[in-house]
Amino acid sequence: MSEEELRALESKYCSWGDTVHRAQHPNIFCDAQGMRLYDARGTEYMDLQMWYSAANFGYKNKRLNDALKKQIDTLPQLACQYLHEEKIMLATKISQDIEKKFGVKGRVHFNVGGAQAVEDALKVVRNYTGKIPVFAFMGSYHGRTFGATAITSSYRYREHYGHFGDRAHFVPYPYRFRCTAVHDKKDCCDLSCLKPFQKMFESEYYSVINTKNNNCEYGAFFVEPVQGTGGYIAPPQNYFKELKKTLDKHNILFVADEIQMGFYRTGKLWSIEHFDVVPDIIIFGKALTNGLNPLSGIWAKEELINPEIFGPGMTHSTFSSNPLGTAAGLAVMDLIEESNFDVTVPQKGAYFLKKLQALQKKYPHIGEVGGLGLALRMEICQKDGFTPNQELTDKIVNIGLKGELTAGGKKRGLVLDVGGYYKNVFTIAPSLYITEEEIDLSLMLFEEALQKALAD
Ligand SMILES: Cc1ncc(COP(=O)(O)O)c(C=O)c1O
Repeated sequence: MSEEELRALESKYCSWGDTVHRAQHPNIFCDAQGMRLYDARGTEYMDLQMWYSAANFGYKNKRLNDALKKQIDTLPQLACQYLHEEKIMLATKISQDIEKKFGVKGRVHFNVGGAQAVEDALKVVRNYTGKIPVFAFMGSYHGRTFGATAITSSYRYREHYGHFGDRAHFVPYPYRFRCTAVHDKKDCCDLSCLKPFQKMFESEYYSVINTKNNNCEYGAFFVEPVQGTGGYIAPPQNYFKELKKTLDKHNILFVADEIQMGFYRTGKLWSIEHFDVVPDIIIFGKALTNGLNPLSGIWAKEELINPEIFGPGMTHSTFSSNPLGTAAGLAVMDLIEESNFDVTVPQKGAYFLKKLQALQKKYPHIGEVGGLGLALRMEICQKDGFTPNQELTDKIVNIGLKGELTAGGKKRGLVLDVGGYYKNVFTIAPSLYITEEEIDLSLMLFEEALQKALAD
């Protein structure tokens, strides 16, 4: 079928309620390899977003694809009320790894999508603490089911669906470039945003705690250790340690949502490992299967999830712990064990960041660049280097997606993802196998797109 015929059918029969039609002219891709996507003309697109960090290990990763194919030929389907080896081994590997790193015992509960795992974490919190309200960050994104939407900060995601009685209390996130606590302060991060939160626990009249019996109304704090959709923002090194002092004092659980930043995006299996705190719950999804058969899950401390407290049927989904997903997940864990991403990701990230900094020096419209590992960010601004410039950001995206850039000697495209509080941040999540040559080529294409957008 021709692309025109497909587009005609799409405009008639596909819901536009997803995110596809944010783009002027959504691309139709038909092939992929490594960090490259291909359209029907055979045009190659360098992908710097890798399915929002779900395909960390590259498209068509042979080893992971082979594991899936093998599972298709052995036990492709199985109702989740029965056991299979891959589920047990994957839960074991994740739990043992966490026990080794954080010194705590726990268990894994699987589900299918990220937001569903967030729902399961909410259930564990409610069941254990008996409390419904939770804290979350401004700029947070935890998914689009009702429970996950209630703890996602953007009001736009809630506005069509009535009142969210269980809406989280949103706390400013330490955003160095654009301080959310002190109005428009640039390059802050003396933790001034943390002080108002700490203050709330001093008196019952600050609305969250009965100081007489130390009973806090909030059961947990849901945290993206490095904000994803919010713009790939990493906090100062000591932020979570300081935050956790308050949480521990008032028995508030610390839930790390690692759905986007897990699986070595930041150079460690879990991004929370950078910050020297022990989480009570870890939520994961996306790259667990490299974007193959979806699988997500939570790990929770034994006291929160042991069978006495979280018994049979407390939560369930038909496709949770599906054999194809668990086989892919197990293959990812084996791949990780045999690789040295803890060395290569920071190295590649440092090389990439150096190149981004060189670009920033040339173009005043690039207000900030930064990142942790291969979770990199670039803020596109007005000429003052600070006022967010969504229009220019969108232009660059659309130019990249046209597939008509010529830097590097042939026609190519560039796939970029945009996030951030003002939708002016390129959230750069390349394949963890990206080479220095591929970084150079991608940034040549980016510069060409930027120049075209500026000239427009
Ligand atoms: C941090 C975080 N949590 C939760 C989700 C929701 O995951 P899913 O889209 O698989 O439901 C996402 C998705 O982008 C995410 O980045």
